[in-house]
Amino acid sequence: VTARIAAVTGASRGIGRATALELARRGHRVFALARSVDDLRDLAAQAERERQAIVPIQLDLADEASIARAVQAILAATDGYGLDILVNNAGYGQLGPLEEVSVDKFRRQIEVNVIGPFAFTAPWLPLMRARRTGWIINLSSIAGRLATPFMGAYNASKFALEGMSDALRLELAPFGIHVVLIAPGPITSHFGDAAMETSEESATSPYAPYTKRWRGARRGSDLFDRSPDLVARTIAIAVASSHPRPRYTLTVPARAGAVARRLLPDTVIDLFYRVAMGLW
Ligand SMILES: NC(=O)c1ccc[n+]([C@@H]2O[C@H](COP(=O)([O-])OP(=O)(O)OC[C@H]3O[C@@H](n4cnc5c(N)ncnc54)[C@H](OP(=O)(O)O)[C@@H]3O)[C@@H](O)[C@H]2O)c1
Repeated sequence: VTARIAAVTGASRGIGRATALELARRGHRVFALARSVDDLRDLAAQAERERQAIVPIQLDLADEASIARAVQAILAATDGYGLDILVNNAGYGQLGPLEEVSVDKFRRQIEVNVIGPFAFTAPWLPLMRARRTGWIINLSSIAGRLATPFMGAYNASKFALEGMSDALRLELAPFGIHVVLIAPGPITSHFGDAAMETSEESATSPYAPYTKRWRGARRGSDLFDRSPDLVARTIAIAVASSHPRPRYTLTVPARAGAVARRLLPDTVIDLFYRVAMGLW
């Protein structure tokens, strides 16, 4: 395997952490980025025990100055080489009926999940183009193809990421740079807890009876949850290939959702969710 230089955002936990370790184990030099430096140091220490190199760098995707500092830190550490592999993984899910999501919270969701990855991708492209090689891996979700009630802000962010990635893949094809979407279903991580923290629902909300039922339905559904290692291994396969697939859809529920989206009319999908979630 050719050793390459990789950066993984959101590497302090969950899918990003598993991906940083997986890429390091496969011999790549990995920059691990997130806001919580303590968690990144812990990851770097784990890598060191395994005799792998992971370099922690602080990054807040909602902060342009932080993005610029992270880019400079990687350029300095690589003598201006930049990256071969960028994994745009960091992100979170803003929950709640759209009527009750504040404009500020909606804006922050788009900032972290869409504009941040956009801003953190552009600086590497001239360097990748000059070498005529590179991999941009964007973490979408089945929520980027199939919208569900009470996740509308998150859906908006992942649909946007998908559109941006599909266009970018075509634009960069002549320059030998691969753009890949990873669309998992439920993965065991901090994601669910982080999402719950974003919702500030009151018991008097007109949506309360519906969101209560929705929460109940979600609780019973961890049967299909898979480990972040599944995603990490898939990303490792994509970056080892000179012809990666445009999109990797992972887990049974995500595959079923993607097929349903392709084959069924909107009215049937709406009916399914309305019946399943009692939205009458
Ligand atoms: N888990 C799932 O079921 C699932 C399914 C489909 C897609 N995904 C997608 O997979 C990606 C990773 O999620 P996960 O499940 O691994 O969740 P997680 O365990 O909550 O990890 C999220 C990571 O993103 C980082 N992050 C959050 N806000 C950030 C910000 N403003 N700037 C920089 N980093 C930030 C967090 O680190 P800090 O807090 O330290 O910054 C953390 O490392 C996300 O894009 C998510 O949408 C997850």
